[in-house]
Amino acid sequence: MRILGKYPNIRLRRNRKYDWTRRLVSENNLTVNDLILPIFVTEGKNKIEKIKSMPGIYRYSIDKINYIVNKASRLKIPLVAIFPNNSDKKKDTLGSESLNEDNLVCKAIRKIKKYNPNIGVMADVALDPYTDHGHDGILRNKEILNDETNQILSEQAILQAQMGCDIVAPSDMMDGRVGLIRKSLDKNNFKNVQILSYAAKYSSYFYGPFRDAVGSKNKLKSDKKSYQMDYRNSDEALREVALDVKEGADFVMIKPGLPYLDIIKSVKENFKIPVFAYQVSGEYSMIKNAIKKNMFHKDVIIESIMSFKRAGASAVVTYFALDIAAKIKKGL
Ligand code: PBG
Repeated sequence: MRILGKYPNIRLRRNRKYDWTRRLVSENNLTVNDLILPIFVTEGKNKIEKIKSMPGIYRYSIDKINYIVNKASRLKIPLVAIFPNNSDKKKDTLGSESLNEDNLVCKAIRKIKKYNPNIGVMADVALDPYTDHGHDGILRNKEILNDETNQILSEQAILQAQMGCDIVAPSDMMDGRVGLIRKSLDKNNFKNVQILSYAAKYSSYFYGPFRDAVGSKNKLKSDKKSYQMDYRNSDEALREVALDVKEGADFVMIKPGLPYLDIIKSVKENFKIPVFAYQVSGEYSMIKNAIKKNMFHKDVIIESIMSFKRAGASAVVTYFALDIAAKIKKGL
């Protein structure tokens, strides 16, 4: 970069002197349009259940989800993402419950679309909340089968679309699933249903609290390294994104968030497409616990989200979405 002028003619602190001038020169700004709220749903009635590993986050039974969706809707959050906590007896090797039109996710989609038609609804396409081994695909002889899994995933995506889901989000990391899902959606007259591909999803230890939240933690015997990405790699993320875009992804997700800002930035620079970041459960819990212990000022939340904007993300999935939206409404 060409340096224009030098000290003492140039004093960068002049533009930083007061709040109003800092606001004038701010390069990135956060609005409610940048936020996606994850919602955990659970079986039973009249339940708003604490999640031990994620202080301040709850699982809602279907009859109670309007409580949180209405809040999101009033704050004008554009999109919510549904994640189910299924009881063990609903789980099997093939994740059959994922194709039940009365499963938790289907019920949640129908209910949200009925009472809050103006908020976007997204659902994960993956088998891990439904399998008794906790993997995102079909497990046979210690291998996660790729093409067989894709078949089920495309049926799962169609079912979600039939329920009124706006965005299906394959988070499983099988090869070729975006193309197959796009083809199946189109064949079934869902050509306007969007696909958000978790294109670069790393095999990460930051997912720990989420697996507790959806109840797959104790199920998972091994790790997901044979399908999720290796955190030593970054060029490979560009290949993943290139393939998913070619196969028909409307936008891509990078996940986790804060430790992977470099990936967000290079995907944005290399592909001029909407890139979303996922500030995952482990990031949430670390920040939340540190705030609770008074180690951090609570504006560390805004600082963390702003880093995604700097890196080039169009929107961020964050468990802090409601807090941030409320703060934005009052004025940052
Ligand atoms: C599973 C899925 C995971 C998350 C979202 N979808 C976890 C995993 O791959 O094991 C993680 C989200 C979070 O940690 O907040 N398909």
